[in-house]
Amino acid sequence: MSPQKERADLSSPLVSGADAAKTPAARSGLAHRFPFLRTKKGIIITVVVVLVIIGGGLAGLAALPKKSKDGSAGGGPEGLDADAVRSDTHFYGESPPVYPSPNMTGTGSWGDAFAKARALVANMTLTEKIDITAGVPSNTSCPGFVPAVKRLGFPGMCMGDAGNGLRGTDFVSTWPSGIHVGASWNKNLTRQRGLGMGGEYRTKGVNVLLGPVVGPMGRVVLSGRNWEGFSVDPYLSGILVAETVSAVQSVGVITSTKHFIGNEQETNRNPVGDVQSVSSNIDDRTMHELYLWPFQDAVRAGSGNIMCSYNRVNNSYGCANSKTLNGILKTELGFEGFVVSDWGAQHSGVALALAGLDMMMPNAGSYWGSHLEDAVRNGSVPEARINDMVTRILASWYHFGQDKDFPSPGFGMPADLTKPHRIVDARNITFRPTLLDGAIEGHVLVKNTQNTLPLNKPKLLSIYGYSAHNPTTNHPTGGMSPWNFGSQPFNYTEFQSGFFGAASSLGSTQIALGGTLYSGGGSGGTSLQTALSPFSALANRAYDEGTALFWDFSTTTTPAVVSDSSACLVFGNAYATEGADRSGAYDAYTDDLILHVAASCRRTVVVLHNAGVRLVDRFVDHPNVTALIFAHLPGEASGRAIAALLYGDASPSGKLPYTVARNESDYPVYRPDMPEGRFKLFPQSDFNEGVFVDYRHFDAKNITPRYEFGFGLSYTTFTYSGLRVDKVEGDGKLFAEYPTGRVEMGGQVDLWDVLVRVEAEVKNTGGREGAEVAQLYVGIPVEGQPARQLRGFDKVVVGNGTAAGEKVRFELTRRDLSVWDVVAQRWRLPRGEFKIEVGGSSRDLPLMGKVTI
Ligand code: BGC
Repeated sequence: MSPQKERADLSSPLVSGADAAKTPAARSGLAHRFPFLRTKKGIIITVVVVLVIIGGGLAGLAALPKKSKDGSAGGGPEGLDADAVRSDTHFYGESPPVYPSPNMTGTGSWGDAFAKARALVANMTLTEKIDITAGVPSNTSCPGFVPAVKRLGFPGMCMGDAGNGLRGTDFVSTWPSGIHVGASWNKNLTRQRGLGMGGEYRTKGVNVLLGPVVGPMGRVVLSGRNWEGFSVDPYLSGILVAETVSAVQSVGVITSTKHFIGNEQETNRNPVGDVQSVSSNIDDRTMHELYLWPFQDAVRAGSGNIMCSYNRVNNSYGCANSKTLNGILKTELGFEGFVVSDWGAQHSGVALALAGLDMMMPNAGSYWGSHLEDAVRNGSVPEARINDMVTRILASWYHFGQDKDFPSPGFGMPADLTKPHRIVDARNITFRPTLLDGAIEGHVLVKNTQNTLPLNKPKLLSIYGYSAHNPTTNHPTGGMSPWNFGSQPFNYTEFQSGFFGAASSLGSTQIALGGTLYSGGGSGGTSLQTALSPFSALANRAYDEGTALFWDFSTTTTPAVVSDSSACLVFGNAYATEGADRSGAYDAYTDDLILHVAASCRRTVVVLHNAGVRLVDRFVDHPNVTALIFAHLPGEASGRAIAALLYGDASPSGKLPYTVARNESDYPVYRPDMPEGRFKLFPQSDFNEGVFVDYRHFDAKNITPRYEFGFGLSYTTFTYSGLRVDKVEGDGKLFAEYPTGRVEMGGQVDLWDVLVRVEAEVKNTGGREGAEVAQLYVGIPVEGQPARQLRGFDKVVVGNGTAAGEKVRFELTRRDLSVWDVVAQRWRLPRGEFKIEVGGSSRDLPLMGKVTI
């Protein structure tokens, strides 16, 4: 890392207001990403949508008295302050320049692929090389398409969304979404999901899976895309992303771990007019200990691709940021793969090439392509940089064996599913149990009184709520439709204004009234095929058992309630989508419906399909609300899963991958930041809370949450005993203050040396078999560190009655016990006594031990 002062300008966003107006994703990216937009029908629809958006916007503006001081109306610059910052030069140097861009070196297992890629690159003309650094239109539905170099036998590559199942095509599965996987805390199941999902992408000829997501991580409670990722805890997220990456890639599909980095809100994610993307201002320690952590795990697991993000990081665009790309990713983490831009996240040309971007999507726009060629010819970009870009792209292709027996790019991705097309059924029946188990294990039971659950041959069940049944349509159209984006149950006009409208402001509708949620919305949404809704599955069960069943799904909060019901089930949801942040974490409509039912029904069971944190304090203490399940986003097996849980065929084993507060004000960061004050043209998001997000904050401020991080009930109970904490035998080097290992994918190799082993025993003290997630938290003896941080978890099935119980085991690595030293620019292993706590949630830790280093 050698900062070169004279090049400071290159790490900063070079876009001027005028450039930004020319370049939002909406301009070139959309029509390219969705070729349908170029057809007559597409143009008409686009015009209508734009008119609706403009009309809505104008109507909205007319209705607004005046923009509030806190900017809560969001969006553009109205009446700039006299001292307003109008130029980017104000921020120069905030993100340190790191040049030149490091070349791929072929370390570790990448040697072979590196050699092959280099040989191929040596035979390519400059134009051929430049061609494969950007996407082109194709006659497929791949959102990204890398062109072929036929002369040399490179067939091109298809990139497909996203992390929860392949979107926009048929004969694929809808997998549980990231948040659901996070709530399962199940490494093995996560791995199985990765294998199953990866296999489907491969069969369809999708070379790059545009996921998994570890950014956003969940700093902003209302962020629209938190559900795409696993957890707000970097450790949990890191373990699950590593399982996903290695599983997907083991079947030869490259993962694009995204969005690098600090992509924590949707509001102002893209430039709109003169307003630039929001800048996530993150200090070095917080960057490493929190936001980089799961990316580091993904790189270590071998992620062949990383997607840089829309937002700015310390006021330099995510895809033009030499510190994060050249410095952190390619130097510190030794990343050997290629970096792709998020779709339309490019706002300059030369600067991006030098800052470490390797591929532009969905196309070269007016920045690369022939302009990049000119830049090479006139000396602005060294050809060596182009060679490195192309080597990284081709090496990833070789490394995952895509040069052999890989279906041709986009093979099973027809552009228009309504037209006759070759059927490529990518589903693999052997993964059906994974879909079901995955759906079951991401449900989290947080309240269960009066023996409400499991249901036991109920005589009469009543079902209420808009999230119980399927949406009225589930159908592709010739072009884009709600079906493409997991948006069938939601208000599509509103979805479009956030998704296509460059997301300058918060969404307003919090729930999807049109039906149950299988995923959230946007590019991470899934295109549903076969799916049994909760209602269908429950109706089947009721029919089989001769249970009388009443239901009322009409959109009223005051349905008639039969008070003699054995139980009343109320299904609600909390929708979230790419392109807009949520406007709240609880909604009056659903709360009113629950309270109304609970007023008459003594056993009211609430099931919430929540695409993010859902606060429940308005109703949860009602004595008749006797059970509450956070059902998250279960994927296509949703109905089967909830029926299995409600009837006790399976015991709940999910745990919250986030904290549920009593009040929104209990969170360190609830809403996204808005453009305000001097920074209306350059929205700023200062990550001042540092590492104290979620439970770290609740612990530090001594705030009692409603349901803590890691909490979840089962139909049985567990006890913990027998803690053993053992420091491994080793020489001084093993416990040296700083790592000394060489850098391979993921960083210095000795960061993963195991220093401490911990084990304990979990016994089942209840009446039936169940699975428990044992959690280990470490207190690092350094001032300013959180009281405890998750550093291990182990999910075990424990039979009841076995006196011995099950052993849970944890390994603590050097990184797990270290802090980021901002001066040494390395992880430092502090000396002192580390606290080790083990138990069933972040606030239920009966076993306490220590280890001295
Ligand atoms: C999203 C990415 C996605 C890409 C391609 C972007 O809008 O931010 O996550 O992979 O589109 O569809």
